Amino acid sequence: MPEIVYKTNLDSVDWTEMKTTLCRDAFDNGRTPEQLKTSFENSYAACVAYANNRIVGTARVLSDGVCNAYIVDVWTLSAYRRQGIATAMMQNLLSRLKGQHVYLFTDDVPQLYAKLGFVEQPVGMGQVIGTWLVNEA
Ligand SMILES: CC(C)(COP(=O)(O)OP(=O)(O)OC[C@H]1O[C@@H](n2cnc3c(N)ncnc32)[C@H](O)[C@@H]1OP(=O)(O)O)[C@@H](O)C(=O)NCCC(=O)NCCS
Repeated sequence: MPEIVYKTNLDSVDWTEMKTTLCRDAFDNGRTPEQLKTSFENSYAACVAYANNRIVGTARVLSDGVCNAYIVDVWTLSAYRRQGIATAMMQNLLSRLKGQHVYLFTDDVPQLYAKLGFVEQPVGMGQVIGTWLVNEA
């Protein structure tokens, strides 16, 4: 398997490639390439996984930077699943959310998030990263 590279700087992301790849993997939610660009760039933090310079995973987080964060767009290309890519992308995002309550909704694979420390609250899942309201490392 190729090395997986995780990018958090979005400058070089090809948004048309992301759209095409999401469509092919049946995880497109209708955003245009421009809308993908806007939603990722307006996020608090994002992580895009690459294999052989092709997009194979995404995750991003909305946050006020103080107390509340919400994780969305967690996806790994089907052929690359069960290799820890989503876990690595999540860990990358969580490391930048110290002191915040992190929430997400999943109707698919709660095991992924439980392994990262999330618990049901009570319908969704969430956790405080580090100490509540302590945002510095
Ligand atoms: C859910 C998803 C992001 C997981 O991506 P991934 O890169 O395969 O995840 P990881 O390899 O980091 O998996 C970590 C752990 O999560 C659990 N897990 C992941 N996929 C699982 C599955 N299909 N069934 C059961 N457990 C699963 C396992 O415990 C796994 O550890 P293991 O492989 O050692 O058993 C991926 O399957 C996906 O993109 N699905 C479609 C989109 C989606 O549903 N996104 C979630 C929206 S909230």
